[in-house]
Amino acid sequence: MGQEPARILRMTCAPGLSPWLAREVESLGYVVESKDHTGVEIRGQMVDAMRLVLRLRTAFHVLQRFGDLYPSNADELYETASGLPWERVIPADGYLSVVSTVRNDTIRNSMFANVKLKDAIVDRIQRVHGRRPDSGPKGDRCVVHMFWKDANCRLALDLSGRKLSDRGYRRMPGKAPMRESIAAAVLMESGYDGTLPLVIPMCGSGTLAIEAALMATGRVPGLLRSNFGLKHLLAFDEETWGQERLAAKKLRHDRPPAPIIASDLDEQAVEASRRNAVTAGVDHLIEFHHCDFADTPLPDTPGTMILHGEYGERLGDEQTLKQTYGRMGDYLKQQCAGWDAWVFTSRALAGSIGLKATGRFPFENSGNDCRLLHFELYEGKRVSETLPEATQ
Ligand SMILES: C[S@@+](CC[C@H](N)C(=O)[O-])C[C@H]1O[C@@H](n2cnc3c(N)ncnc32)[C@H](O)[C@@H]1O
Repeated sequence: MGQEPARILRMTCAPGLSPWLAREVESLGYVVESKDHTGVEIRGQMVDAMRLVLRLRTAFHVLQRFGDLYPSNADELYETASGLPWERVIPADGYLSVVSTVRNDTIRNSMFANVKLKDAIVDRIQRVHGRRPDSGPKGDRCVVHMFWKDANCRLALDLSGRKLSDRGYRRMPGKAPMRESIAAAVLMESGYDGTLPLVIPMCGSGTLAIEAALMATGRVPGLLRSNFGLKHLLAFDEETWGQERLAAKKLRHDRPPAPIIASDLDEQAVEASRRNAVTAGVDHLIEFHHCDFADTPLPDTPGTMILHGEYGERLGDEQTLKQTYGRMGDYLKQQCAGWDAWVFTSRALAGSIGLKATGRFPFENSGNDCRLLHFELYEGKRVSETLPEATQ
């Protein structure tokens, strides 16, 4: 395995999350060669991919670049893709899915391009081995990604399979949950390391609290699931995988973090959080309360507080929400002196908090233009400064 050449590995992420993904990848010792809005690239081997799919908290997929083609239509896609050595990576008795993003004038339906590429791959394997892999949309074994934009058609093997951000613990998603990878990035930005208390009022399905508990005890998210795209490729080596899993397990420690407190006004949300935390194996590390955010019991030692309020999609919600955000600002100012507070909300509602943020970071959560706002609530210092709404 050590003899294998280093290949381009692209880690994809939610739009805008790449600065945090890059930080995470660098903290694992890799050199980021390029970065854009939806991902970062490094060079690495299969063993690196194994480490990345197990440990990354902010990524969607780990893709291994397999080829760049320049077809001018679907027939040329078939011809040129047939020239790539698929039989060296995909087992003849495997199962193949093709997914794509296509922006090319000659292709009206991306499903048609997917079928052409799938045919090229299975026909090639049939020619070499006398047998073709099964294929279909399941996406749970060998997955090939196609990004066809204008003249360039880039093909990659998906080493992760299902999105890495779908950890599997959120069996009860609740309303408007935060994506797990975004929750991890928010916690990274807050500098959370488990040494000071963490309070998550408005916890919803518990994502932030659960991600925090995983991070604070060195539990890597990849150990929560068993299936990854790379396990279905010919280059997969069981022994190396076992070593990587063992190394990942050793990162876990059982020193309890400082208190993690999660609360919500909705009793069902509290129950969902609790159950999701059980599935993630961290329920013993989180204290749950059913209450208004302003009544969340705070530990004597201040730490980090993160609020993820609702954005509202129905007409008429906005006024009520503005009042809630105004109340949040008052609460932070009057009851949270000494705390490092963060509010994650839509750009439109960010100004309703009525406090001057010391930092603001753009995020996109499920298509919503969001902001993470930072408020340093120094003890004994005036923190209030009302800004015009929606200016942040
Ligand atoms: C956007 S969701 C939070 C989603 C959460 N981060 C997750 O990943 O599931 C907002 C939550 O705020 C709660 N909420 C609304 N008003 C509240 C209040 N006054 N006090 C406490 N929680 C409240 C809602 O019940 C909802 O669960």
